[in-house]
Amino acid sequence: MPISYDETRNIFHLKNNQISYIIGIEKGKYLVHRYFGPKIHSYHGVNELQLINRGFSTNPDPQDRTFSLNTLPLETSTQGSLDFRIANYQLRNPQGYRITAFEYAGYQITNEKPKLPGLPSLSGANTQTLEITLKDAQQNLEMILRYTLFENLPVISRSVEYINKSSQPIYLENAGSMMLDLPSANYDLLTLNGAHTNEANLSRQALHSGIQRVDSTRGTSSPQHQPFIALADKYTTEDQGAVMGFQLIYSGNFIAQVEVEQYGSCRLQMGINPDTFEWKLSPNEHFVTPEAVINYSDTGLNKLSQTFHSLYQNYLVPVYWQKRTRPILLNTWEGNYFSFHEKTLLEQVKTAKELGIELFVLDDGWFGQRNDDTQALGDWYVNQDKLPQKITGLADQIHELGLLFGLWFEPEMISKNSQLFRQHPDWPLQVPAYPLTEGRRQLVLDLSNPEIQDFLIATLDEYLKNGEIDYIKWDMNRHLTEVGNKNLPADQQKEISHRYVLGLYRVLETITRRYPKVLFENCSSGGGRFDPGMMAYMPQTWASDNTDAFCRTKIQTGFSYLFPPIMLGSHVSDVPNHQVGRITPLSTRGHIAMSGNFGYELDIKKQTPDTLAKIKEQVAWYKEHRQLIQFGNFYRLHTPDEQGVCAWLFANDQEVLIVYFHGVAQPAQKLAYLQTTYLDPQALYQNTATNEIFSGDELNHAGILIPRLKSDFASFTLHFKKI
Ligand code: DGJ
Repeated sequence: MPISYDETRNIFHLKNNQISYIIGIEKGKYLVHRYFGPKIHSYHGVNELQLINRGFSTNPDPQDRTFSLNTLPLETSTQGSLDFRIANYQLRNPQGYRITAFEYAGYQITNEKPKLPGLPSLSGANTQTLEITLKDAQQNLEMILRYTLFENLPVISRSVEYINKSSQPIYLENAGSMMLDLPSANYDLLTLNGAHTNEANLSRQALHSGIQRVDSTRGTSSPQHQPFIALADKYTTEDQGAVMGFQLIYSGNFIAQVEVEQYGSCRLQMGINPDTFEWKLSPNEHFVTPEAVINYSDTGLNKLSQTFHSLYQNYLVPVYWQKRTRPILLNTWEGNYFSFHEKTLLEQVKTAKELGIELFVLDDGWFGQRNDDTQALGDWYVNQDKLPQKITGLADQIHELGLLFGLWFEPEMISKNSQLFRQHPDWPLQVPAYPLTEGRRQLVLDLSNPEIQDFLIATLDEYLKNGEIDYIKWDMNRHLTEVGNKNLPADQQKEISHRYVLGLYRVLETITRRYPKVLFENCSSGGGRFDPGMMAYMPQTWASDNTDAFCRTKIQTGFSYLFPPIMLGSHVSDVPNHQVGRITPLSTRGHIAMSGNFGYELDIKKQTPDTLAKIKEQVAWYKEHRQLIQFGNFYRLHTPDEQGVCAWLFANDQEVLIVYFHGVAQPAQKLAYLQTTYLDPQALYQNTATNEIFSGDELNHAGILIPRLKSDFASFTLHFKKI
């Protein structure tokens, strides 16, 4: 049994062939954390709890001053009496008291994983779930801690359910998804941080006393911080050492924090951000938190990433897309912006067809008076000056030419200058008497309002129901302000941020279930809401508005800690690059874009015959290697250094591809060998360009000589077949 309960010692042991997670019940009441790490095949309690009479400790039993919940490792925090470390939850009753005393009440083990109502969650194949119920007898409240163990992955997912069985409402001021008390704080803290066009920079710093946190109060998970934290041993590298990774499956305001406490242990906590949250739980109501993922690697960061990749690709993204290859696309944005006409688009489609491109995506600008980014969001009717035969006419012709057709939407937004706003000035999020703050000259629709959710479902349905759209790019280009509305009473205004996310999930769930074969691409000015919550509905994300190949090596490396290449939209764009002005070779732009979910974003009618011939070659080359890139294992061989050198490896049972990017050319180029590290040491590999044969262990350890590269931003690929 992967999850077992030892009645004599009151121990729960969650164990698969890679990890163990152990929970104890102390004094019949208190849930203590005993262990998380590599699998222990038979646990006998060697790591005793430390029971010491510590100064300033509070004791549930006044006779026993060695027993304090403020110094023991716990599975959940306590509130108002016994534990002073960061809290995983906080409740307030109508009398204003903020105290609870939850005690162990029972457990259940099931072979299935319950779906979390209204929230995205991992699917339950090959899992077992432990549910531990705690009760506060004074107020008649319940808390269920859920732990799902994945059979074939070093993963446990967690969420919490709060239940009000009393006869008065309770206010959840904080409803965390998980916490984990670890006996040591001797870790490096890893987080992913960034900004628009500079997403997913990995930061690594030693934990130190006090609280370190990343969070969002922007209404979305944000490009600023990813709902992710890892704790790595000091010597952990890409291929060696222990690391624990934690990620929240949620797309709104989150918090992920670690407290290094007084006796050198630490507490990690993760969930909805309590700064912008409160929830009124009426009698008999339940509140379920988003799911948090706990992932363990004993062999470095690459293994941690591979577990995330496989978890999300096999247990999170919509089933239809889990094993389906993704088309090579041409997106109109950087090549056309707002200025196009059906005729000019069809010319591009014809050329795209000749080049072997498979999907044509019409980006922003096709609706209402959308001739720039100051207006018309919400006016989802076709601009017939640009598209005289509407979407149907365009889509039909594109299909006749043999390409798939995709369309851009930004459903959550409304421009002040739009018909929709003139009809429904009360639809954006707003607080009476305060001005509506614009961002990119637009406002955010109040998705907590079911009427607006239904409007969005109906709008999308109208376009999708005829089956003429194969792909949708779902954009979201600003954060939430004036988070309020007139519909909810004063004591529920703080629910709106979370209600917004639930509303968004309802729209996405309805539409993506209704049209499972439509490929949805998630986007928020690029990777501004690139989180597992969105991946549950949309299997790929436009990773960044920055299309410069040099910058992209860093951004794609950053996202690769969590998401596989197939999820990471990446396009070849024109030079000088529109974001940073850099000129990089077409071959390099191709190599970097092909290392993600591949496409083009330039006006192909303006390219020279030579460039078009090269694009045709790139497309053909990618098709040859697509299966490996989209479904193979991905490894970071060299993360971008100061010069910008970066190397990635794609491998499956039959073949291997290396993508090497040289960054800025340097004088006196250093001697460098690229070690492949992860190949089968016993196997032989044949270079498909030169036919040379090498053993896996010589490639892994001796490495490949990096040739002299005398130009900026050069790159090359190497392809080997396993023989
Ligand atoms: C932001 C996206 O990231 C871009 O790719 C493009 O779709 C624009 N929005 C359109 O407004």
